[in-house]
Amino acid sequence: MSIREASGYATASDDDIDVTMFAGKGGVGKTTCAAATALRYASLGHETLVLSTDPTPSLSHIFELNGRQKPEKVDQGLYLAEIGLEEARQMWDEKFGREVYSVFSSFVSVSYPEFVDFISSILPGLRDEFMVDYIKELVRGGRYDRIVWDTAPLGQTLGLLQTPAMLSRHLKPAPRIYSRLKLGAETRRSVLDIVKGWEKLSREDMDFLRNVVRFALVTIPEALAVEQLDGIVGELGSLGFRIDRLVINNVIKEPSSGFLMTRAEQQRRYIEILREKYRHLPVTELPMFPREIKGMDRLRDISKGLFNGE
Ligand SMILES: Nc1ncnc2c1ncn2[C@@H]1O[C@H](COP(=O)(O)OP(=O)(O)OP(=O)(O)O)[C@@H](O)[C@H]1O
Ligand SMILES: [Mg+2]
Repeated sequence: MSIREASGYATASDDDIDVTMFAGKGGVGKTTCAAATALRYASLGHETLVLSTDPTPSLSHIFELNGRQKPEKVDQGLYLAEIGLEEARQMWDEKFGREVYSVFSSFVSVSYPEFVDFISSILPGLRDEFMVDYIKELVRGGRYDRIVWDTAPLGQTLGLLQTPAMLSRHLKPAPRIYSRLKLGAETRRSVLDIVKGWEKLSREDMDFLRNVVRFALVTIPEALAVEQLDGIVGELGSLGFRIDRLVINNVIKEPSSGFLMTRAEQQRRYIEILREKYRHLPVTELPMFPREIKGMDRLRDISKGLFNGE
């Protein structure tokens, strides 16, 4: 059975939709790898969306675009979307916020902005959950064959990924609380229905993250990055998520000076540690290029590095 059949994400196409999330600590090259991977998929003829949920996104900068319409066409078969905090908030408002407010406002006198602040404070991460939901809907929609998901650095990403499980825990006592409130039978029913809807949503989001999304980890051969990778691998594993590959970025391949040779030597030790620790994963060493990665040509070089020079 395919991944998609197993998770019930049927789409118009026969091929599996592939969702890859790039994760790792700050500044290691997640966005660069995500952009280069998306470029590669599009060049193979897959309709590809490269999507960022980083609150301070940099994808359009790397592709040297300045418009922000969503999704924006970058190249043949390649589309880009950036969902910042404000976009996520708006989408949450549209999909859930008003519905819940309509119930709450029938027994509490509160303005809509106050209500949103209140809900966000008792259920932190609700908007993050919406991002997972949004990507899940994109997969269901079947518009794209490949979705490459670029995320914020480590800590924020883990928060995002744990949201569905956390939301489930938050919502557990809710039916008891609401059933004790002095509400009319009808209002009580609709609050409970909405809470049940949220519980179902967080279960579905967790299933989606477990069964459909594949995680690609990016790191660099330095002490702190190696150490922090342990944390992220541990957390992803404990949530039951699948790690597909490990990219070791910024590897100095042909040191041309004493200075670079010393750095390369130091890197070698960390690369050995990483290869030993993660020997069950496909590991790719991505060379450090002399210039920052910006624009199609340099992204293609990164693509070659990520996909065996093809
Ligand atoms: N292999 C490489 N060779 C040279 N420069 C690189 C390489 N990979 C990434 N860079 C440069 O390093 C910087 C950081 O890369 P990138 O933005 O992809 O990291 P990130 O992990 O997405 O960062 P953040 O955590 O801030 O989102 C960029 O300026 C990029 O051009
Ligand atoms: Mg980034």
